[in-house]
Amino acid sequence: MKPIQVGLLGIGTVGSGVFNVLARNQEEIQRRAGRGIAITMVADLDVERAKNAVGEGVDVVSDARAVIANPNIDIVIELIGGYGIAKQLVMEAIAAGKHVVTANKALLAVHGSEIFAAASAKGVMVAFEAAVAGGIPIIKALREGLTANRIQWLAGIINGTTNFILSEMRDKGLDFDAALKDAQRLGYAEADPTFDIEGVDAAHKVTIMSAIAFGIPVQFDKAYIEGITKLAAQDIKYAEQLGYRIKLLGVSKRVDKGIELRVHPSLVPAKRLIANVEGAMNAVVVHGDAVGTTLYYGKGAGSEPTASAVIADLVDITRLHTADPHHRVPHLAFQPGTLQDAMG
Ligand code: HSE
Repeated sequence: MKPIQVGLLGIGTVGSGVFNVLARNQEEIQRRAGRGIAITMVADLDVERAKNAVGEGVDVVSDARAVIANPNIDIVIELIGGYGIAKQLVMEAIAAGKHVVTANKALLAVHGSEIFAAASAKGVMVAFEAAVAGGIPIIKALREGLTANRIQWLAGIINGTTNFILSEMRDKGLDFDAALKDAQRLGYAEADPTFDIEGVDAAHKVTIMSAIAFGIPVQFDKAYIEGITKLAAQDIKYAEQLGYRIKLLGVSKRVDKGIELRVHPSLVPAKRLIANVEGAMNAVVVHGDAVGTTLYYGKGAGSEPTASAVIADLVDITRLHTADPHHRVPHLAFQPGTLQDAMG
C-alpha cells in the first residue's frame, strides 16, 4: 500500500521536529501505523528556510491553499497557530475532505465547536494531541485509557513558561520580570508572552481537556483566568515557609451545578508530587471514579516532544485508512520476530 500523504502548513520548531522524528523512527512508525506516512508537501512563507528544513523530495510552496487543493494529500497538519488564517485554512482543509492534525490550542478552545461540527459533517478527523501538554499523551489518556471512568476532576501544570518562572523565582529569589526574561531567552514563552503569564494559554488547554473529560462543549469564555503577574518573590518565600509551593494550576471539576473551569496560582502542599514539578515541565492529575487518581508528567513543549504528539495523531488517522483491523487498536504481536530481534 502506498504511504498516506501528508501536507504540512507552517514549518517552525515543531514542524522540523516532525520531519526529524518521522525520518529517524520511520520503521517503527510504519509498523505501528500499518502503512507508511510521507510528508510530501510543505507550505511556509519562508520557502528557503522550509526547503533547508525538509531536504530533497518534498514540494515546498508559499501558498498553504496549494496544499489543501492537492487531491493526493490525505492529512493536513496545521502548525501556524492563532485564530486568524489558521482557522480559515483548517476549515478549508475540512471542506476539502482532508483530515487535520493541529497543535493549535487557542483555535480549538475558542472555535472548537464550529470546527468539530464541520469535521463531523464531512466525515473527517481533527486530531489535537499536541495542543495540550506537548509530549504528554493526555488527550489519548482521557479519550482512551480513562474512557470507562466518570471523571471527577483534573488539575494540571500545563504552561511550562509560568512553571519555569515560578521555579526561578523560588530557586534563585528572582523577581517576576527577571525570571520572565530568562524564560524568553530560553525560548519557552510564546511570541507574545501575555498568553503564558496571564494564564490564557493554560485556560485554552484546560478548556480542551474538560471538553473531553466531561463531554461538554469547549467553553473558553466561561473559564476564570488569573495569571502570575501579580506574584512577588516574597509570596513564594512565605508559601515555602508554610510548607507550600505556588503553582499555576488549570483546574476543572464537577460541581453541583455543572463543571467548574479555572486557572490561577494555587498553594500546593510541598509534599505533593505535582508541587515538585519544576522548570518548564508539565504534569496533569486526573481523578476518575474507577481508576482513582492518575498522574501524567513530561515535556509540555519543544520540537521533538510536540512532534511526538503530532505523529501519534498521524498514526491514529493512518490506522483508520488501513484495511487490516489489527492496526485499529493497539496490540502486541503484530509481526513475527523474537525479543532479541526487536532489541537488535
Ligand atoms: N508557551 C507554551 C508553554 C508552549 O509555555 O507551555 C506549549 O504550549
